[in-house]
Amino acid sequence: MQKKTLSDITIQGKRVLMRVDFNVPLDGNKEITDDKRIVEALPSIRKVLDNGGRLILMSHLGRPKGKVNPDYSLNPVALRLSELIDTPVIMAGDCIGTEVMQQALALQDGEVLLLENLRFHPEEEANDPEFSRELASLGEIYVNDAFGTAHRAHASTEGITHFVQTAVAGYLIEKELMYLGKALQSPERPFVAILGGSKISGKIDVLDNLFSKVDTVLVGGAMVFTFFKAQGLETGRSLVEDNKTELALELLAKAKSMGVRLILPEDVMAAPEISPDAPFHAVSVDQLAENEMGVDIGPKTVETYRKEILGAKTVLWNGPMGVFEIDNFASGTIAVAEALAAATAEGATTIIGGGDSAAAVAKAGLADRMTHISTGGGASLEFLEGKELPGIAALNG
Ligand code: 3PG
Repeated sequence: MQKKTLSDITIQGKRVLMRVDFNVPLDGNKEITDDKRIVEALPSIRKVLDNGGRLILMSHLGRPKGKVNPDYSLNPVALRLSELIDTPVIMAGDCIGTEVMQQALALQDGEVLLLENLRFHPEEEANDPEFSRELASLGEIYVNDAFGTAHRAHASTEGITHFVQTAVAGYLIEKELMYLGKALQSPERPFVAILGGSKISGKIDVLDNLFSKVDTVLVGGAMVFTFFKAQGLETGRSLVEDNKTELALELLAKAKSMGVRLILPEDVMAAPEISPDAPFHAVSVDQLAENEMGVDIGPKTVETYRKEILGAKTVLWNGPMGVFEIDNFASGTIAVAEALAAATAEGATTIIGGGDSAAAVAKAGLADRMTHISTGGGASLEFLEGKELPGIAALNG
């Protein structure tokens, strides 16, 4: 997907309206607990400011459902951003309207205005043309650097492009497409994908798309139990999608027919319930008791997966291996993160699809030892499924 970028346009003295994904996690005190999405937008932000642009940033935060709700204000983001760029960030009271327009027109070269949460207006998610036109009128150039929201056809990502002459990609989108795109188009081999998560239903399209590209798929997370049930094994109280067992068998057959090694765990960690205090132990996958559930991959599987990962030249990881939010059930996920870090050190390209896997890598303290960690959860998943991302498709080619 060849798109024009910030490097292809003249910025000096122009009002640059940039869509970013500042949908960051906040704690109860409205403190940002992970500023990665802000940090990753800095190259584009700095490019505009260093080249004398007048920057207008816009984003959503959370899901306020089309209503003004101070809990979802972008105020904490304005504060954090001004610290990061060492420049004041003017916080607007809204994202459209006369006052915002005046603030946009008053901007001087090198100044930054952050609009208030786009999703305080229902028109944003409805991709309303009039709202798109109003947003567009704030700037002279439109830049989309919100990779994490590129799978949404919303007013600020897709609709707006119909009302501007210049609509280009920012550097974060360029970087995400470079890593994720290269992995899918011309990976160095062996190419190993690790897929986890609770449900097969959420990963069918990824598996389908990856079968034609990868050499090996390592599977973890609760979705393995749908495969095991399909194979006639006892799955106890594990999460199983009963209506997807046929599909599981089809996926196994398809992998085989396409020459892909689809590897399932040989052992799992079993516990009576998902609770931090529950007792747990390793068990072979054909020995799970009726009153137990699988909560993580087991030590033998960790060893096998580690070897596979260390033998790869490209590794793509999406979805945790177990209930990693509970420390006792996080060992498998952490071990996979450690194996990826070791593979990176040996020269492999390691790519983490966003969301839970990115959180797991952060929990393991290994974020800086991966080649690329995507800022998109849903967006990277849809990209890996081979789908077109509307926010990117709409940009100038
Ligand atoms: C994300 O966090 O995945 C993006 O910011 C998109 O948010 P959404 O799922 O609420 O559209």
